[in-house]
Amino acid sequence: MRLLVIGGTAFVGRHIVEAALKRKHEVTLFHRGQTGLDLFPDCERVLGDRTTQIGRLKNRVFDAAIDVNGRLPGEVRASAEFLKHKVGSYLFISTVSVYKNWGGREDEDGEVFSPLQEPPEPMTGGAYGALKVACEKVVDEIYPIGSTIVRPGLIVGPYDTTDRFTYWPSRVARGGDILAPGGPQRLTQFIDVRDLAEWVVRMAGEMDAGCYNAVGKPLAMGKLLETMQGVVGGNGNLVWKDDAFLLRHEVEPYTELPLWIPGIDTRFAGGLARERGLTFRPLEETIRDTWEWDKTRPPETLRVNGMDPERERELLAA
Ligand SMILES: NC(=O)c1ccc[n+]([C@@H]2O[C@H](COP(=O)([O-])OP(=O)(O)OC[C@H]3O[C@@H](n4cnc5c(N)ncnc54)[C@H](OP(=O)(O)O)[C@@H]3O)[C@@H](O)[C@H]2O)c1
Repeated sequence: MRLLVIGGTAFVGRHIVEAALKRKHEVTLFHRGQTGLDLFPDCERVLGDRTTQIGRLKNRVFDAAIDVNGRLPGEVRASAEFLKHKVGSYLFISTVSVYKNWGGREDEDGEVFSPLQEPPEPMTGGAYGALKVACEKVVDEIYPIGSTIVRPGLIVGPYDTTDRFTYWPSRVARGGDILAPGGPQRLTQFIDVRDLAEWVVRMAGEMDAGCYNAVGKPLAMGKLLETMQGVVGGNGNLVWKDDAFLLRHEVEPYTELPLWIPGIDTRFAGGLARERGLTFRPLEETIRDTWEWDKTRPPETLRVNGMDPERERELLAA
């Protein structure tokens, strides 16, 4: 298949391109040239800004386009409109952040935020979801048939620089008393980027239109951390602190203590995607490969999320 990937050189897109090349698809990358210019030297590469320079793709047709990085309705409109008669199908990577409710078991019919056309100043987490709702609507409007909307939950694995999952293998490996959030039964949910990428490429190839949550199976935090101990070692001691304690000490959910959302079990319904062939590799593989990749990052890498060791010691002593 001739596949256009808008984006494709940072994290999710990078794995999508790898999965497509593994399947021997012919891939064209469209991005500005600021990220991963050295990746995929054998792919056709068209450089430009997706909002103003998508016209650089003129005189080309593709079996499918995968819009990986669209976050603003204006930029998605520019590419979706330009490509309308040039692609067989348009697959848009959205997010479960479109849903209003995170405490239930939202399926694809769950209530979403009202669409937002422009980002607020400063940007907020809620606005991200509402902007993605507007992006989805643009895609649906321009491709009433032939579009696929994929809503992933937290995506993890090698090249994820957000440290939301990556924090945990390195913390567990460091050992000692480990501040473990919420409680061992609290459910968390994530998807290995490579499972997502392989499935997305298959869906684009099969032109399987529709809207799909792309989420892993809900997993208890205790099971996750114990499995990590089995994979990365460290002989650490998990010290569980409940929501009330963490909130009282103003611990920032999800960012300062990754994967912790007070009072909420994350368990978006993923049955529809599984029916369409989404599969999951063993948890141990996700942990091991993420950990191995993390160890290749330069020591001075700025960790954007995760708890400062000093603060962790103070909290454990409190
Ligand atoms: N991470 C998660 O847990 C999570 C969860 C749910 C959904 N998602 C969604 O998954 C996607 C993740 O994207 P990613 O960053 O990993 O994708 P990616 O495709 O790997 O990287 C972003 C790409 O976009 C290009 N780009 C950025 N701005 C551009 C512009 N104005 N014009 C043209 N190209 C541009 C970048 O290259 P240049 O810099 O060279 O332009 C880069 O190739 C997002 O849509 C996000 O909303 C993520």
